[in-house]
Amino acid sequence: MEVVIVPDAKAGGELIAEAMAALVRRKPDALLGVATGSTPLPIYEALAAKVRAGEVDAARARICQLDEYVGLPAGHPESYRSVVLREVVEPLGLDESAFMGPDGSAEDVQGACEAYDRALAEAGGVDLQLLGIGTDGHIGFNEPCSSLASRTRIKTLTEQTRVDNARFFEGDIDQVPHHVITQGIGTILEARHLVLLATGEGKADAVAATVEGPVASVVPASALQLHPHATVVVDEAAASKLK
Ligand code: F6R
Repeated sequence: MEVVIVPDAKAGGELIAEAMAALVRRKPDALLGVATGSTPLPIYEALAAKVRAGEVDAARARICQLDEYVGLPAGHPESYRSVVLREVVEPLGLDESAFMGPDGSAEDVQGACEAYDRALAEAGGVDLQLLGIGTDGHIGFNEPCSSLASRTRIKTLTEQTRVDNARFFEGDIDQVPHHVITQGIGTILEARHLVLLATGEGKADAVAATVEGPVASVVPASALQLHPHATVVVDEAAASKLK
């Protein structure tokens, strides 16, 4: 695992956007796995700026989703489909057809999970998967004690994650869904390159456990230690508890 400490979130965003741009220059139809939440926004802004400036042609890039709320209509502004279309697909000038994600409003949720794993494999696998990290060490929505071999499936959010995400729902925890579809840890580990960005002091404990703790399902992000090509980019605040 490679750990890169950057001064701040903007620098982390720039660094990762350049790595994504370099990948797309090498492989124009790369499948880029994106995360939602606040952390990756500087990455998406920096990458879109590179596209606008003509530094990279992303017209053939493909985008896939890491996770999705269950039970929110697809058009809900906080469904992750809507968020990824708004924050990534549109700013990069891509068509919706370049984007794939699990169907959080399917009647057969388990079937939708299995179909998504199959779709990722049929698409050739994820070339670069971006990850954020929860304060409890989750990646995607693999909450603590998720199997390290898990596949895409339905999960129940912890109270802590629902509290953390209430800010996207007018601060009202009652509006935060209880369930999500998430790529499993085993699914995530199949991506060719994993890039986790963590910023802010609130992530410092989770980062220390991920990087310096044992590989353990109580800290799902520690599974990155098992991956041959994992990069953890942290700002100084998130790095503050590393030895
Ligand atoms: C979202 C996701 C989550 C977030 C994590 C951190 O797609 O996969 O694991 O990355 O909850 O969220 P932020 O970045 O908002 O602190």
